[in-house]
Amino acid sequence: MSIEPFRMERMQSTWENLVEYDMSESGVRPLTLRELIEMGFDLEGFLDVPLGYSQSNGTLELRETLTGVYPGATVDHMEVTNGTSEANYLVALALVEPGDRVAMETPNYMQYPGVVRSLGAEVAPFRLVEEEGWEPDWEQFERAVQPGTRLVYLSNPNNPTGSVLSPAAMRRIVERVEQAGAWLLADEVYQGAEIHRERTPGFWGMSDRVIITSGLSKAYGIPGVRIGWIVGPKELIEKCWTQHDYLTIGPSKLSDRLARVAVANRERCYARTRAILQRNLQAARQWVDGFGGFLRWREPEAAAIGLVKYKAPIPSIELAERVRVRQSTLIVPGAHLGLEGYLRLWIGGREEFLREGLRRIGEELQAVRQS
Ligand SMILES: Cc1ncc(COP(=O)(O)O)c(C=O)c1O
Repeated sequence: MSIEPFRMERMQSTWENLVEYDMSESGVRPLTLRELIEMGFDLEGFLDVPLGYSQSNGTLELRETLTGVYPGATVDHMEVTNGTSEANYLVALALVEPGDRVAMETPNYMQYPGVVRSLGAEVAPFRLVEEEGWEPDWEQFERAVQPGTRLVYLSNPNNPTGSVLSPAAMRRIVERVEQAGAWLLADEVYQGAEIHRERTPGFWGMSDRVIITSGLSKAYGIPGVRIGWIVGPKELIEKCWTQHDYLTIGPSKLSDRLARVAVANRERCYARTRAILQRNLQAARQWVDGFGGFLRWREPEAAAIGLVKYKAPIPSIELAERVRVRQSTLIVPGAHLGLEGYLRLWIGGREEFLREGLRRIGEELQAVRQS
């Protein structure tokens, strides 16, 4: 099976630990083990636990804790995975076959186009429209989601726009998915990372054609523990588990234990995320405003990212490369996310870090503006 490079992830893996300012992230500044101990993780008690295999689809304790997040779901509606990315991958492995059509929004995180094409499926994109609050171009959406479409992928809140779908848009999407006899995969890893608005409503429960993926990496601020999950109809979960048996068997025992503490304390994690983002959004707003009309953005409603449009004819990959080389600062070019002419900036770090990172990016933007 050949698979195209995942351009953004590879760019991050190559440079994120070498630059002075990594501004390419998308979750909040991560929690420490000490903070999880303060929330109740029993480190001392874990020291003598044999490091054997864990329950491969997630321990009953963790899945039971997760049922509290998804009303109506039981432990058999869940599969615990190594991150949301593995969760997304397992769903594709379980559902997608050569010749299938998979519809997906653009811009997006861009894991899915590569994965489904490698499985022999065709990608049918539908655009999100900035002027419409980043809601789908409905004409394109309806062209992409038709009888015969196997799966529809979206992330809500969305990476990279930080936007949240309205309840009316969610209903319209689900209705079309049902009419088409497709599946909806809603990646909700940013749910809980809202900045000023109320919690993003989930797709869970809207239809028996809905599958949710999520995890600890973004709204919880714990990417290093590498825990994600799938929530869906039992038969689908069964198929994902079969794929999981072949792929990685399951997540680590330590990660499963840590995840139990995190999920049980999710409101505390979300509150921490909100406090970081509310503060940082102000600094980012000031910075964007300082460029007059040269930079434009629709402020993120959720997620630790700001997507800015710049007014210059330089391709985003070239601009991001210039910022990396001259300022030792990493940002994500819009082209890696399916949207040329934009840059994605991280707003989840410490405030001093954010200010210095933005200052460095700003120097290059000013230079490009004047050239
Ligand atoms: C929408 C989306 N899904 C999944 C992931 C990967 O998450 P994880 O670290 O849980 O594998 C990301 C990471 O940026 C993301 O933005």
